Amino acid sequence: MSNIAALACALPKAELHLHIEGTLEPELAFRLAERHGVKLAWPNVEALRAAYDFSDLQSFLDLYYAGASVLLTETDFYDLTWAYLEHAHADNLRHVEIFFDPQTHTERGVAFGDVIGGIRRAMLQAEREWGISFRIIMSFLRHLSEADALATLEEAKPFLHRIDGIGLDSSEMGHPPSKFTRVFALCRELGLPVVAHAGEEGPPAYIEEALDILQVTRIDHGVRAIESEALMARLAQEQTPLTVCPLSNVKLKVYQDMREHKLREMLARGLKVTINSDDPAYFGGYVNDNFVACVGALGLTAQEVVKLARNSIEASWLDSARRDVLLAEIDDVYRDWRGE
Ligand code: ADE
Ligand code: ZN
Repeated sequence: MSNIAALACALPKAELHLHIEGTLEPELAFRLAERHGVKLAWPNVEALRAAYDFSDLQSFLDLYYAGASVLLTETDFYDLTWAYLEHAHADNLRHVEIFFDPQTHTERGVAFGDVIGGIRRAMLQAEREWGISFRIIMSFLRHLSEADALATLEEAKPFLHRIDGIGLDSSEMGHPPSKFTRVFALCRELGLPVVAHAGEEGPPAYIEEALDILQVTRIDHGVRAIESEALMARLAQEQTPLTVCPLSNVKLKVYQDMREHKLREMLARGLKVTINSDDPAYFGGYVNDNFVACVGALGLTAQEVVKLARNSIEASWLDSARRDVLLAEIDDVYRDWRGE
């Protein structure tokens, strides 16, 4: 591993774009299927992993929703989240803000409280054992109707004290942010910060809708912003964080090769870019794998890697006291790396 990749791995970081359902590794999927006597459509782990060959976002989502069918109990959600947190700890993540998709589970009859209960139990344990702080973001599925999202918000009401923010994910094309105007306004009235996937496959206009209509505090992905000079200038001016997911973008063919990724150019243009893993079990790696891939393919410098780590803390929903602690830790690791 290059020196700079080693620095990237060692730096304290936050992850701000992670779907907990996307951390389901094939081994755990088969273990859970066996636990519940559920039959998966693949004969074994190797066959399932071999199916991770996607042509676009939708081809991935079809598999991702099929995989989630083995998640049935509070313990399943605990086991899933704990397995992710072991990777987070190994990657020197100090803070994570994770999405969960309640509609994927409640539609199958799983209790809302079991989903969020299992996730939170693992998070609290990681906070106690490793000092990893966390936020939990409830995401609406944009291929479903706004009425469905409104019903989900109602269902979430008894758990709102456990929910730190709202997101929007799933199939982007044909489902613009404006489809969710009313439900996002209600969420903001409840005091919840909101984010949305935009500009992953969708055009720059979807990013503008997320900013202007949904009033998001961050854009998830946002890589297609590069196609609009006016939007690039605005994002730089407003320092809106973008939670970019490089391995995801290559796996879902947003770019054919990591060397084509615009992350470095976006950084150079003054955008507040962060690096995240999205659905690491499906896309070939966790946060450090994403950093290593970008260092290798894009030739990121040590300063750029440090900037990305700092951005992840600054773009988080942490209070300023903990942010300052984590930023100071980043400075310490960078100083040690330089041999000072
Ligand atoms: N759900 C899980 N991963 C996603 C992604 N990359 N884009 C949209 N929805 C998702
Ligand atoms: Zn995502």
